[in-house]
Amino acid sequence: MKGIILAGGSGTRLYPLTIGQSKQLLAIHDKPMIYYPLSVLMLAGIKDILIISTPQDLPNFKRLLSDGSQLGMNFSYEEQNKPNGIAEAFIIGEKFIGNDSVCLILGDNMFYGSGFTKILKKSVYDVEKNKKAKVFGYYVNNPSRYGVVENDKNGNVISLEEKPKNPKSNYAVVGLYFYPNHVIKTAKNIKPSKRGELEITSINNSFLKKKSLIVELFDKNFTWLDSGTHESMLEASNYIHTIEKRTGLKIACIEEIAYKLGYINKKKLHQIIDYIGDNQYGDYLKKIKDGI
Ligand code: G1P
Repeated sequence: MKGIILAGGSGTRLYPLTIGQSKQLLAIHDKPMIYYPLSVLMLAGIKDILIISTPQDLPNFKRLLSDGSQLGMNFSYEEQNKPNGIAEAFIIGEKFIGNDSVCLILGDNMFYGSGFTKILKKSVYDVEKNKKAKVFGYYVNNPSRYGVVENDKNGNVISLEEKPKNPKSNYAVVGLYFYPNHVIKTAKNIKPSKRGELEITSINNSFLKKKSLIVELFDKNFTWLDSGTHESMLEASNYIHTIEKRTGLKIACIEEIAYKLGYINKKKLHQIIDYIGDNQYGDYLKKIKDGI
């Protein structure tokens, strides 16, 4: 399975923060926002990752993440010239995806909770085996902001709507999607919405129509955050800070994950530590290297 991180958009809701740089490079506590979705793909066992961003922001992502070899991974980059919608990622990424299945994650989505790696691994397995799409629902108090999924008593999906004024449930569809290869064809066939975007919800509705969509609801004690506003960014930073301080363990530390997954050896981790230098993040990686 291949992975795509969509890190485009103009980020106008965060102006002036995002005039000079991409939203997904802004800090969430101690690391750039994109580390969080990247860590999710890593935990799913995905090594080939395409990062899509705007022509002006792409060089900064390359500077941060380069070709991925420092983490024992492969990163590619493509431009999204205009905010044409999330589903365009599969058209832009057609060559990169090749004949594989694909997992798409939005560059501003953060996940935290026990059993998450297991859920991810199972999703990869299920999609590759059954060739169905898989998405996730999460209970929120402001569903109108999101794609909304309505289920019946047996957990079957009845409807999916993008940012409905009168949401039929409190379950938002999170920005993490698993698809079989023919999602590329589906993306080419959907029409832009009223706001002129190729909506991910249209893709999901097309899979739903063909009875090829699985929706798993996250437990309410699981945490899903996104960061579209100044307030939600601050809340996400505080949340990550609180947990990291309490446990002494970092969330979404991609260097630690690469080391623990065996993608890089001690020597390579040492090189990263040398590069990051003597600071709080570097000190943490030193502890990981020494097995504390
Ligand atoms: C997008 C999707 C929406 C989804 C959300 C998750 O909305 O269109 O269906 O629920 O991401 O973060 P956006 O936040 O880009 O407006």
